[in-house]
Amino acid sequence: MSDKKQSDLKVEDSKAPLAGVGGLLIKNGRIITADADQLADIYIEGEIIKTIGKNLNVKADKEIDAAGKLVFPGGIDPHVHLEMPFMGAFSSDNYETGTRAALFGGTTMVIDFILQKQGNSLRSALEEWKSRSDNNCVGDYSFHMAVTDFNENTKKEIREMIEVEGITSFKTFMAYKGVFMIDDRQMIGLMNEVKKHGGLINVHATNGDMIDYLIDKHKAEGKLSPLYHYLSQPEITEAEASGRFTDMANYTGCPGYIVHLTCEGALNAVRNATRRNQKVFVETCIQYLILDASLYEKEDGAKWVMSPPLREKKDQATLWAGINQGLVNVVATDHCPFNWEKKLLGKDDFSKIPNGHPAIENRMELLYSEGVAKNKITLNKYVEVACTNPAKIFGMFPQKGTIAVGSDADIVIFDPKEKHTLSAKTHHMNVDYSGYEGWEVTGKVKTVLLRGKVAIENNHCNIDKGYGKFIKRKKVADKI
Ligand code: URP
Ligand code: ZN
Ligand code: ZN
Repeated sequence: MSDKKQSDLKVEDSKAPLAGVGGLLIKNGRIITADADQLADIYIEGEIIKTIGKNLNVKADKEIDAAGKLVFPGGIDPHVHLEMPFMGAFSSDNYETGTRAALFGGTTMVIDFILQKQGNSLRSALEEWKSRSDNNCVGDYSFHMAVTDFNENTKKEIREMIEVEGITSFKTFMAYKGVFMIDDRQMIGLMNEVKKHGGLINVHATNGDMIDYLIDKHKAEGKLSPLYHYLSQPEITEAEASGRFTDMANYTGCPGYIVHLTCEGALNAVRNATRRNQKVFVETCIQYLILDASLYEKEDGAKWVMSPPLREKKDQATLWAGINQGLVNVVATDHCPFNWEKKLLGKDDFSKIPNGHPAIENRMELLYSEGVAKNKITLNKYVEVACTNPAKIFGMFPQKGTIAVGSDADIVIFDPKEKHTLSAKTHHMNVDYSGYEGWEVTGKVKTVLLRGKVAIENNHCNIDKGYGKFIKRKKVADKI
């Protein structure tokens, strides 16, 4: 057991009088939070954790024996794209299938991205996304708002998004020119406005012009296979943009969060910023920790076409180290699945392959198996990057992201010993392949509670679409 301090769990005295009646009791689990590790019981009433203690004296309606199991806070994946219109297709998981698959994998909440259409308002984008998500989610969810056209009208909408809608983070793209990309002048303007109202800027930090130049060059040379997707986005394109974004965030004083950071050069840009005492939050995704660019040489390399692309083994090592150094704060997925038939849109031209890969269901188990079970990260670090930091950074802590009295009862009961094999034949994501087909994992999500309801049990989902709630988020912190 770790020597982490145990007091944070606020364990009750076991000799205390009756601690509750009627709710749900999880007994004898090893409860792991970002900063504690404790054998104890958890008593839940309604949607909320009521008491945590050893040998709790309660008369519960339902008891779950978690002896021999790990008990984690519900996972939070702050980077998913559900039913998203992109590159001539819609990502194949909708709000129902995507949030249900997330629950099967121990992720109780996701943050999806609304995309403003250039020339239109943020409000109209919000309404469009709500028309797909409202009453359709099984698990809890929130939105980031992607600002693809910052102008005098958009500027007026920022305050309202934060204060009225509880959407406190704004996504920007430094690539995908003509569709999503904003220039540096817009970025500075947006940063100033977001800072003024207590929000955060997320960024897809790659140099769009350099990438477009390389795509055109490769196509002109007849280099059209998936490998050239990778070769059109070399490390420098990400390192340059990450440094530029970090400088702009420093200049404006706006809190910043780099999504799906993949490589050493980009992380070094963030590391450099720490020398001037600047904090830029960093997210990587599970695939960048465990997969590498050799996959692009395979015949079915399109399965892993995503942006940024998979990198090298040395980048994986940098990312694992970055997690332990506190530079990489979050492990997400960038879940953006497309069926094979859609991936084939680019069979003769890599630039037409819809970008993205499925992982919403696999993140928690893969991170445990490849990270904790292989001694790359501790159990506390696991919870920190998969559950707690997303809640803290995006303004939901301590309602979400931890196991504490008063928090939502979002809980994962995990068997650290059970081995199983990932496959499209058994996964719940609405996509006809797995990027991890045949991958052996150690550790399995057994039972998942969402706001006090037993959502996943015996490989079955007990809750329906509509149970998942939109979580309004608070203003963000600039340090965690
Ligand atoms: O390949 C990716 N990442 N697809 C989703 C869009 C994005 O850039 O995050
Ligand atoms: Zn992106
Ligand atoms: Zn994304």
